[in-house]
Amino acid sequence: MERDAFLEVLAGCLGERGLLREPESMVRYVSDWAGIRLGMPLAVARPASTAEVVATVRLCREHGVPMAPQGGHSGLVAGALPAAEGNELVISLERMNRVRSVDAINFTMSVDAGCILDSVKQAAAEHECDFPLALGAQGSCQIGGNVATNAGGLNVLRYGMMRQLVLGLEVVLPDGRLWSAMTELHKDNRGYALRQLFLGSEGTLGIVTGAVLKLTPRAVQSRTALLGLDSLEAVIELYGLARRDCSDLLSAFELIPRRCIELAMEATSTLSDPMQQHYPWYVLLEVSASGSLDLGGMLEHLLERGMARNLILDGALAASESQSQQLWQFRESMLEGQRRRGEHLRTDISVPISAIPAFVDAASRRIRESSPDCEIIAYGHVGDGNLHFNVLPPPTMPEAEKYDHLHALEVQLFSLLDDFGGSISAEHGIGRTKQPAYLARLSPVERELVVGIKALFDPDDLMNPGRILPRRQRE
Ligand code: FAD
Ligand code: LAC
Ligand code: ZN
Repeated sequence: MERDAFLEVLAGCLGERGLLREPESMVRYVSDWAGIRLGMPLAVARPASTAEVVATVRLCREHGVPMAPQGGHSGLVAGALPAAEGNELVISLERMNRVRSVDAINFTMSVDAGCILDSVKQAAAEHECDFPLALGAQGSCQIGGNVATNAGGLNVLRYGMMRQLVLGLEVVLPDGRLWSAMTELHKDNRGYALRQLFLGSEGTLGIVTGAVLKLTPRAVQSRTALLGLDSLEAVIELYGLARRDCSDLLSAFELIPRRCIELAMEATSTLSDPMQQHYPWYVLLEVSASGSLDLGGMLEHLLERGMARNLILDGALAASESQSQQLWQFRESMLEGQRRRGEHLRTDISVPISAIPAFVDAASRRIRESSPDCEIIAYGHVGDGNLHFNVLPPPTMPEAEKYDHLHALEVQLFSLLDDFGGSISAEHGIGRTKQPAYLARLSPVERELVVGIKALFDPDDLMNPGRILPRRQRE
């Protein structure tokens, strides 16, 4: 009864289009890209303005209803999914998708948090600017989700993560107060940098409704190459060479193991082997510039030096935009190839860049010793020291055994990571799936601070409860 009364008042605030209550209309909001599904929500609120988000959050607070902010549900740690108990209100930002303004002189852009990343990039391009965040989910993820997860992706080595790309924010706090700091200032050193608390907060401190983004000059030329190498040591040496030889114009340096080339070809039938021979490791690299430099000459010089040092064994250099897109297609399709293999261990770890070969070697040996039938797939953003060290179970493994088996491998992997001083989450965040590993590594002081921050913003534990931190025990 109380539930019905709450939903009636909410429907009054949001209108018919703004509130979904029927199970069939809520299907889209209960599972994510990886296919995880926990439970149904109480309902799905789809506010169309910041004022409607404020009204929704106030009502939730009044009635003690837990909230789950949701963007494009491409997050990979189950943070946006409504809880199994069926008591959470999903608050989807999808109707708040307006580009508010672009200032091409100030290199800034102000947007609603529900804007899809691709459309933000498109709008920036119309003003001879780029918004340089780039990731496989850019056709569906939203700016609010990118802020909440502090998204990284393919161009971090040059432009930084979302944290470096956000100048201002507008956030509805868990008690319904609006914190508006949509500043377009590039420099601002007044006291604590409050906005940085929301970057990577995974919806636990408030609902992001708007953001001021930092733009870069539009790249008018780029060169892409896919290179074959025979060791990770060679990959790392080439990375150092490329950073220096390319005058810091290197915008991507992605590691792709042979198995991922095969997975990409399995997922996209139009792709064919990029080189005549097979190599254990491939590097997909890109240089780009907004002015008239001889990028082609610069890249050729790098490739010559890489070959002379026996680092590069073969390569495919894109001669056109469409060939470049085809090379990038390998990077995109290999994700779909992995997804088709069903449940697997997905990680997003980091170690110092120079430690990558030793870590991958030690981790691979450890996994092979305990699970010789599993397939290891280590790929990712070498320039950030960030690897997706994933493990695919053999297709013959019974479904019921997979979770425990993969979890045991994750424990081993993370313990090795501790020895390397690494991070268990370099880009996807903690959400629900990484919570035990995260909590186990917090020092008492860190835990006190983190719990204190959550309690300050959300004393009733209503905003994305149970993500990052465990739910607060209620008396
Ligand atoms: P959702 O999945 O909807 O939500 C993610 C989290 O943010 C949840 O905790 C949710 O509650 C919260 N949230 C969402 N919107 C808001 C809001 N407005 N206010 C407050 N909290 C909110 N990540 C990388 O960093 N680098 C990559 O290269 C990368 N590649 C990916 C490739 C694929 C194919 C996929 C599926 C995912 C990839 N990701 C990557 C994961 C990444 O976290 C997301 O793609 C993206 O940042 C999440 O945005 P979203 O809008 O889909 O958020
Ligand atoms: C990637 C995502 C999964 O880099 O983070 O492919
Ligand atoms: Zn990644």
